[in-house]
Amino acid sequence: LSRAASLQTALVKERRDIRSQEHRALLDSIPKDLNRPWEDPVPDAGGRYLAHELRGIGLSAQCMPEWKKEAYGKTVMFGKRSRIPIQEQRQSLPIYRLKKELIEAVHRNQVLVVIGETGSGKTTQVTQYLAEAGYTTGGKIACTQPRRVAAESVAKRVAEEFGCRLGEEVGYSIRFDDNTGPGTVIKYMTDGMLLREIMIDSNLSSYSVVMLDEAHERTIYTDILFGMLKQLIRRRTDLKLIVTSATLDAEKFSGYFFDCNILTIPGRTYPVEILYAKEAESDYMDAALITVLQIHLSEPEGDILLFLTGQEEIDHACNSLHERMKLLGKDVPDLLINPVYSALPTEMQSKIFEPAPPGKRKVIVATNIAEASITIDGICYVVDPGFAKLNVYNPKRGLDSLVITPISQASAKQRAGRAGRTGPGKCYRLYTESAYRNEMPPTTTPEIQRINLGWTVLNMKAMGINELVSFDFMDPPAPQALISAMEQLYSLGALDEEGLLTKLGRKMAEFPQEPPLSKMLLASVDLGCSDEIVTIIAMVQTGNVFYRPREKQAQADRRRGNFFQPEGDHITLLTVYQAWKAKQFSGPWCFENFLQITSLRRAQDVRKQLLEIMDRHKLDVVSAGNDLMKVRKAITAGFFFNAARKDPQEGYRTIADHQQVYIHPSSALFHQQPEWVIYNEIVMTTKEYMREVTAINPSWLVELAPRFYRSVDSTKMSKRKRQERIEPLYDRYDEPNSWRLSKRRG
Ligand code: CDP
Ligand code: MG
Repeated sequence: LSRAASLQTALVKERRDIRSQEHRALLDSIPKDLNRPWEDPVPDAGGRYLAHELRGIGLSAQCMPEWKKEAYGKTVMFGKRSRIPIQEQRQSLPIYRLKKELIEAVHRNQVLVVIGETGSGKTTQVTQYLAEAGYTTGGKIACTQPRRVAAESVAKRVAEEFGCRLGEEVGYSIRFDDNTGPGTVIKYMTDGMLLREIMIDSNLSSYSVVMLDEAHERTIYTDILFGMLKQLIRRRTDLKLIVTSATLDAEKFSGYFFDCNILTIPGRTYPVEILYAKEAESDYMDAALITVLQIHLSEPEGDILLFLTGQEEIDHACNSLHERMKLLGKDVPDLLINPVYSALPTEMQSKIFEPAPPGKRKVIVATNIAEASITIDGICYVVDPGFAKLNVYNPKRGLDSLVITPISQASAKQRAGRAGRTGPGKCYRLYTESAYRNEMPPTTTPEIQRINLGWTVLNMKAMGINELVSFDFMDPPAPQALISAMEQLYSLGALDEEGLLTKLGRKMAEFPQEPPLSKMLLASVDLGCSDEIVTIIAMVQTGNVFYRPREKQAQADRRRGNFFQPEGDHITLLTVYQAWKAKQFSGPWCFENFLQITSLRRAQDVRKQLLEIMDRHKLDVVSAGNDLMKVRKAITAGFFFNAARKDPQEGYRTIADHQQVYIHPSSALFHQQPEWVIYNEIVMTTKEYMREVTAINPSWLVELAPRFYRSVDSTKMSKRKRQERIEPLYDRYDEPNSWRLSKRRG
């Protein structure tokens, strides 16, 4: 374990090096006084949580609690994980007392909804109880998880409890990683993997029980599985279906599944005090870090859980906590800092379940994953800034983006509950009580009603689900959203005129990204420029790579100008990446050139993932060399929806809907203003600006998107049209209620 500790230090150090630029600013921002004002007590509506006032306590070793003084200065024994025997632990779980009742209920009902607080033992125990009760003689037990990490870590734990090696009786299966064997009877898997299996065998004939776990997360996969399993259980009356949830959607789930019975595991939770911020926090990251330190220095023993939105924030927070702890000097007790997010390497993941050595405190900085998917024992303090990253459809971009969004009240309650698992706890909400009551939605909208359906429709088609409008969704998306998704996919060539998946569409479904990006990538394979396009896709997805500090704007702009390419911003981004690569991915070089190394590293990562998928599907990675026209054509093949032509009066007009738009002043083409362009997205600031613009030849539109554009006979056109000579084949916005292309045939 001391090796683990030094590994941790090494990791923190490495990350710190990556971020040395941002660090300086953070170090400067450490406040001298860590006191914070908190709201006076107001009981939470649920009545379960108490609230009271926290008095700020200053930073000094004098006010260090006794336990810390004791621990501090002693050599703490690392390594010995003082554990209660595993079977005893199992028997102490709330679900244990209901074991008989649960098995009985499964015997008697084909579908059962199981509700219980996180940590009550649903995920780890139900499968084992059913295996003991003989359900594995006729088939396997599947248990789905919305997240990869959860599937993997839970399977490990259950294998340990079951007394087998992972991949024997207990295994897991997640994308690109199948850890099951011929003898596997309890199989943890992502919901996406079960969907893949149902595509291959629509009867799921090798399973006797399917448990849709964490159903409250309402991922798009879980929602589709709901519909498919609802059909399947009519055909296979011997198949048992269990739907579990940590929250109170029980009635809704039960109603959907023919009013099935609900089994509730009585909670064993301790009171959690809720503390609200007195005023809205302008910088939730800073507020969160200060709160963590304050808890560490003033509160009794118990671990801390801080919720942030993503890997970047979490790495940033861990570094910053580390730095601040160092600044506080030797007089404060150690704080073990653990990041938790899906992309975390496995060996680091298992660390989070290890209890902190006696006398030490750990802080876990996690994404939403710690809200319900994984249970970490020993948490007494929760710090909740009130945000999560959600996939949200951005109609302006025509794409989904991960957006930092306020969480729902249900999420906030769930987060607070994490503090009351092993004893009374406290939850620090870094938002006001009025924000909680008046601004947060009661529950999170299911993914299916939030995101662009292009990708979903493509994937449902790839699963062989053709009747989308009549599909039995628990919360159906708007029919118009389905129709415009199908129209988009038809234009991209992913669906044929009957609405069936094409060969191209099937390949597009292999990529975890929006259909236009996948189309661009596949077109680049044919055009012979996939090497460049992979880089461009990675770069446009990672956000802003150019860094523009306020005090050095002119200098930053000059550096940025050096990268500009006459073809436009996509090629400029390509040039930046290639230059960085030529400098052996150097950090100092980025700093000199005002480039955000974090964004570039992310691009490098996305690029690697795309190349892996391409390799698996034997798609050639070829470079266009100097022939940049190929690259521009490939971009057009994916983003032809976003074409615009210069307006004789002012700015540009989009071709599809004739909107007035402008080239963003930061664009490489701002001064050049070419006649025809393709843009990646529109951002609305003072005007509607096109971001990431590339100059094109209009004939490419007709050549590469014949289902969307045609050239028109100029004698039969209005004056405006005569000027354009190219028009969209149909107006997507004029005919909302029919998918014209399939009707034409029928
Ligand atoms: O699914 P639910 O939230 O009801 O609980 P669970 O995931 O089955 O967790 C029950 C207990 O198993 C937790 O309290 C943890 O102590 C333990 N567990 C673990 O040690 N390691 C894991 N990877 C998962 C659970
Ligand atoms: Mg669970």
